[in-house]
Amino acid sequence: MLTTDSTGSRLLVDVHVRPGQVSTLRQDALQGLTRQPKQLPPKHFYDTRGSELFDAICRTPEYYPTRTEQALLERVADRVMRSVRPTHLVELGSGMARKTHVLLSAASAQGLSPSYVPFDVSESALRHSADALLADYPWLRVHGVVGDYDHHLHLIPRGDRRLIAFLGGTIGNFEQRDAVRFLQRVAASMGPGDALLLGTDLVKAKATLDRAYNDAAGVTALFNLNVLRVINRELNANFDERAFKHVAFYDEDACRIEMHLESLVAQRVRVEALELDVEFKQGERMRTEISRKFSEEAVAELYGAAGLELVDWYTPEDGAFALSLARLPNRN
Ligand code: SAH
Ligand code: TRP
Repeated sequence: MLTTDSTGSRLLVDVHVRPGQVSTLRQDALQGLTRQPKQLPPKHFYDTRGSELFDAICRTPEYYPTRTEQALLERVADRVMRSVRPTHLVELGSGMARKTHVLLSAASAQGLSPSYVPFDVSESALRHSADALLADYPWLRVHGVVGDYDHHLHLIPRGDRRLIAFLGGTIGNFEQRDAVRFLQRVAASMGPGDALLLGTDLVKAKATLDRAYNDAAGVTALFNLNVLRVINRELNANFDERAFKHVAFYDEDACRIEMHLESLVAQRVRVEALELDVEFKQGERMRTEISRKFSEEAVAELYGAAGLELVDWYTPEDGAFALSLARLPNRN
């Protein structure tokens, strides 16, 4: 682990994952490309280019979750800050941290000056966003952690009263079992003064969801295909991006978006670093992401399974997206 202290004493970054060695890419690619059906875990989307493309997805007219969650945060941030009075704002999967401004401004308006603790696998996104926030809030201290939430969650600094934000509907990118395990680990790190602020996308009309993951400008397609570039670069492979296409659809029975890369032709790809040849049939799909959509009951159940208690539920009139606040159950 490397800790750097660059801008005086206001920015500290612990690096547990280096660019170019996202710890599990080798194993994930080996397992995922040799199983049937083929599958890749989503964390490998987010190299520097991937993080920028995701930021661009958030600005497409079709991708409503970012705008909806941002507007909702603006409405409820005061109430959340009053209820938690955080000494630390921890943000899991912070990315470009665009929504963080709303939370820090609300904290500041109430005379609070929490430290900001962003946690993300993308060092470039984390440093970029930390710089922007430090410039906007002269009182702010940032202690960033570059890590993988499958391995490094326990390395997040503790504090008196932490508000732990997990936004963007990212919890929906886990299967139920993994989401429960993830929240159990978050819960294990929480003290009685801590609270979790979770963003979840909600079940809605299939057409709206299909559009959100198939923007007309094709940004989502570029983002999905970017994982092939990452594998080419990091594992010396020869995927041809033009020989695959982006496929995303809402599965109404499973209440989830599935994202795939579909091979346009029968082809063989060489992954030199794994000494592996991978055969694709024409039309064969490799799953790269799921994004589950929830109801209030499903979120409450998730918290229950993870040993947390839903204390506040916030949703806009159109019911498109939800923020919820959870705490450890009161043991008196
Ligand atoms: N919170 C932002 C970004 C969500 S995108 C928003 O609401 O818009 C998901 C973020 O999680 C990305 O920044 C990505 O780099 C990060 N991420 C993905 N997998 C991760 C992992 N395994 N560990 C840590 N961060 C991860
Ligand atoms: N957390 C985001 C979501 O589930 C991730 C996401 C949005 C995404 N669009 C994507 C992931 C396109 C892969 C491809 O909505």
